[in-house]
Parts: sequence; structure tokens; C-alpha cells
Amino acid sequence: MAQIPVEETLAERLWQEIMNSSFDDWTVRVAALVIATLLAPFVARLIGRLTSWLKEVFTASGRLKRAEQAVAKDGNGIWLAKNFHIDQPVDYRRIRRGIPVITIANLKGGVGKTTIAANLLAHYSIAKQERVLAIDFDYQGSLSSMMLSEADHDALFEEQSDTRTCRASHLIEHATVDWLLSVPNSVEGSRLDRAKVIPSFYSLAATENRLMIEWLLGRKDIDIRFRLAELILSDRVQDRFDRVIIDAPPRLTTACIQALAASNSVIIPTVLDSLSAQAVGTFVDQLRIHQKLWPYLRIAGVVGNMTSKDLGVDADGKPIEGDEALERMNAVEVDAKVACEDALERSLQTSNTPLRDAKIFSPHTFIPDKAELSRAAGERIAYASASNAAPIQQVRRAFDRLGDEIDSRYASWN
Ligand SMILES: Nc1ncnc2c1ncn2[C@@H]1O[C@H](COP(=O)(O)OP(=O)(O)O)[C@@H](O)[C@H]1O
Ligand SMILES: [Mg+2]
Repeated sequence: MAQIPVEETLAERLWQEIMNSSFDDWTVRVAALVIATLLAPFVARLIGRLTSWLKEVFTASGRLKRAEQAVAKDGNGIWLAKNFHIDQPVDYRRIRRGIPVITIANLKGGVGKTTIAANLLAHYSIAKQERVLAIDFDYQGSLSSMMLSEADHDALFEEQSDTRTCRASHLIEHATVDWLLSVPNSVEGSRLDRAKVIPSFYSLAATENRLMIEWLLGRKDIDIRFRLAELILSDRVQDRFDRVIIDAPPRLTTACIQALAASNSVIIPTVLDSLSAQAVGTFVDQLRIHQKLWPYLRIAGVVGNMTSKDLGVDADGKPIEGDEALERMNAVEVDAKVACEDALERSLQTSNTPLRDAKIFSPHTFIPDKAELSRAAGERIAYASASNAAPIQQVRRAFDRLGDEIDSRYASWN
């Protein structure tokens, strides 16, 4: 058996002694306590930061995925993006019995949306003495300039340039019922003093884009698609106005979606040619695809605009209807009317009621091509003109016929 040298055993024992004595229990504890006290806040902060950073990364990637899905090629477009809960106003079905809220829309430009919106609201305001709320959702602001005095229009234009916002922007984002009711009836001349307009300017486009992106990224706690519907459905707005008419832009913008979701009917103006008839089909397809957003929306009718003849009166100025009006149309117009009817049928056969009940208006309510309407474009409303000249009277009669037909459609639904 090998002997362990005495020196070695001694050295080992000495080392252990030193170790034991230098790391005495209470010294270690105090030292650990001091270090822990000093480091604890830093460590806690670090852990907190790390957790919130991880949370942010996860939320951001979730939001991005949602946004990516929203614009996916095989999806139904932004406004029907998957994973987006549809948060309709409480008791949304009240919209069916509410005041008429009519959006004048078509994804094609230049078909007469603004002209028809302006003259139709003049018909309701002047001939029917209704309190009309007109909303301009096209940032080009043509309806606004037609309804406002030049001075008011210029002042509002300046204001939007400074504040980068306009009344239409405010309406789709922050507006309250009090604000809406406080907008002055700043309407051209006294003939339209029962009407109120919510004007729009170019700043609307920026607000619309921002709202859409914030909503897509989940930064909005409300469903921005129903913001206007909520306002219009409020009792005070329903009591204060007899009718709402909305001039829509030729795109499914944030404001356009809000308009359709707040309306109980849509009117689709079209020029009677084959390309325009196709565009009617395209727009109606979109109405059908998005029907989940507006389950109570009806198509009041497709209205032919700029017809070559006045279809509502004969050569002697006597009112005509039915087949006689049809016979006054030229071949291109008749073909386009048939194409529009086919497009409605084709597009809506798979839709649910009430959208499926869409019809084209009867030809005697179509709007003739009148120089008085184009001359007034963007500046005045021919219907509300002070003149009683024969062509202005013809314009008024045409819009009176269309207004009456819309009313009879509404009556037949109730
Ligand atoms: N019935 C009509 N008769 C004559 N010109 C018209 C008629 N309807 C529209 N216009 C003219 O056609 C152009 C486009 O009309 P507008 O109402 O601005 O269309 P949209 O709003 O669909 O773009 C304007 O210059 C307008 O004056
Ligand atoms: Mg327009």
C-alpha cells in the first residue's frame, strides 16, 4: 500500500480550511443580497422589455398576416378580408324602416352620379319640401361646389388645406351626432335652404387610406365599415332629416363602403351603351360579393342617363309611359337597356333578397341629355336654377318623374 506523503495531506487540509473560512455563510448571504438588490431592478426591467418586445413582434406579425390575407389574390378584397369580424350596428335591421338613405353609385366615372345626386336632392328639397342631408364622398368635391356658395366653398377649401381634413373626412372618422346636426345649411340660394351638405375635398383621400390601413392593422377598436351607419341610425338624425343622398366615388373606398353600409337603397346611373352596361354588371357583382356587409340594401334601380330623347314626354310635351317611352329609344339604347337587365339577372341570381329584387327604372324616368345639365356641371344645380326657361322645366320634370318612381319603389317595400 502506497504511503501518502505527510506534506500532501497537510496541504489539502490547509486548502479546505482556507476555503471554508473565506466563504463563511453569512458573508456569502450578505454579498448575494447586496448584489441581488443592486441587480434586481435591471433584471426585472430587462425581462419586462423582452416580454413586451416579444408580444409586439407576435402582434405585428399577426397583423401583417391579416393585412396580407386581406389583399390576397384569391380573397374577396379588402373589405371582406378573412379573420375580420363583421361588427354591424346593434339592431342593424332598423335600417329597413328608417328614412330613405340613397347612395348614387357606379364604379364607372362620367355616367352622371353627381349630376343625378344633385338634381335629385333638389327635387326632394324643393318640390317635396324635404329636409335632405347630402353627403359628398367623392374627393373631387363636385357636389360640394354645386351646393355651396362660392365664398363658402373657397373658405372650406382653404380650411382643408390648412387642417388637412374636410367635413367628409370628419364624418367617416370622428363625427358625433351633435357635430352632424351642427353643420350649417350652407347651401346655394334660398331654394335649397332645407338641405345640408357634407362637403369633401382632396384631403378625404388621405383620411380614407389611413383609416383603411389602421383598420387592416387592427389599430381601430371600431368596425370602420359601419361608422356612418351608426350615425345615421341614431334617433336624432332620423328625426332631423327626411332623406339622405350620398354621391359616391367610382371606387370602393372607405367612404364608399361606409355609404353603402349606411344606405337602404342604391341607385346606379348609367349611360346607355354596351361598355357602360358591362360596368353596371361589374358594380352589381361587387354589391353581391359584399352583401354580408349590407344585408338590407336594395337596388332601387338602374337609371339610364343622357338619353338621346326625353323619354317621358311626347313631341307635344304630353307625359308618356310604358311601351311608348321604350319606342322613343334608339337601337343602341335599347340594346344597352337589355344588356343591363341581363347583367342584373346574371349577377344577382345567386344573391339573397332584397338585393336580388333589383330592377332597371322604367324608361320614362330616364334622364335626357340636356345642355342645361352639363353647363351647370360642377358649379350649379340646374333643377334649383332661378330660371323657368323651357329646358330647365324639362330638367325639373325629368327629375320629378325619377323622384316619384323612387318614392313608389320605397312605398312598395314597406
Ligand atoms: N343628363 C345629362 N345631360 C347632359 N350632360 C350630362 C348629363 N348627366 C351628366 N352630364 C355631364 O356628364 C359629365 C359627367 O357627369 P357627372 O355627373 O360628373 O358623372 P360622375 O359623377 O358619374 O362622374 C358632366 O360634365 C355632366 O355635366
Ligand atoms: Mg361624380
